[in-house]
Amino acid sequence: MRHLIDITDLTVSEIDGLLEVADDIQKRPDAYFGLCRQKKLATLFFEPSTRTRLSFEAAMLELGGQVLGFASADSSSAAKGESVTDTVRTVGCYADIIAMRHPKEGAPMAAARKSFVPVINAGDGGHNHPTQTLTDLLTIRLEKGRLESLTVGLCGDLKFGRTVHSLLTALSRYAGVSFVLISPHELQVPDPIKRALTEKGVPYREVETMEDVLPELDILYMTRVQKERFFNEADYVRLKDSYILTPEKLTLARPDMAIMHPLPRVNEISHRVDDDPRACYFKQVRNGKFVRMALILKLLEVKGP
Ligand code: CP
Repeated sequence: MRHLIDITDLTVSEIDGLLEVADDIQKRPDAYFGLCRQKKLATLFFEPSTRTRLSFEAAMLELGGQVLGFASADSSSAAKGESVTDTVRTVGCYADIIAMRHPKEGAPMAAARKSFVPVINAGDGGHNHPTQTLTDLLTIRLEKGRLESLTVGLCGDLKFGRTVHSLLTALSRYAGVSFVLISPHELQVPDPIKRALTEKGVPYREVETMEDVLPELDILYMTRVQKERFFNEADYVRLKDSYILTPEKLTLARPDMAIMHPLPRVNEISHRVDDDPRACYFKQVRNGKFVRMALILKLLEVKGP
């Protein structure tokens, strides 16, 4: 039985295979309908979500399966003190696969160790978000035609942004990728992730100003400052508008630079950017359903059409 807790649980060749299947699902969705008939997905969300939970549910419904679950800890027996391990053992009696989001780093991993069915990490605190990374990789491949030889700028809250951590780990496995990490000093990428980049010989540099580096980027990955991870409201208020992408700033960028964001956004991308042909963030939302369909098929070991 396989789980997906960290993006490195998948080999590069498995990731490439999932992206191929996701691309095929997008092109001929009817061929996949019914492959998960009589299968059930449980979405256990101990933390808020719009895209991840609903795209998992839409993915299973489009495969002909069914969904059950809860959208907040308050509506489950977690509110009475039940542990995540007891919760997944219980839910494994009702469902064939579980997607779990939790505010505590490592909670999905602890759950997977005790689970009778595959567990997918749908985001754990400020740690990892591997299925957002599959979404991002599919989007990059569709937009740029490759995952190799790219200069990728990541901007905003790189400390608490779990999508950034998983994406850095994933893209660093492809040849010729380099990173420009754009953040205030307090919100820099955590040291263990930077050490891993150095050990693998992946070039990166840290800067505080977006405008200086915009002209060299193939991709700009914007992120929200993660209010819910701050201990101190005053620090959040001071840092929350550190970067705001506007059409005026985008005049500095390449005509084919992809603008990405895992969403939700607050202020960091002006709504005036949404009609720019380089804006890919709503394409990411759409691609999320297709990669999650491919992932469910893989973890349930269901053969394709
Ligand atoms: N990108 C993402 O994880 O969005 P949600 O928090 O809405 O699931």
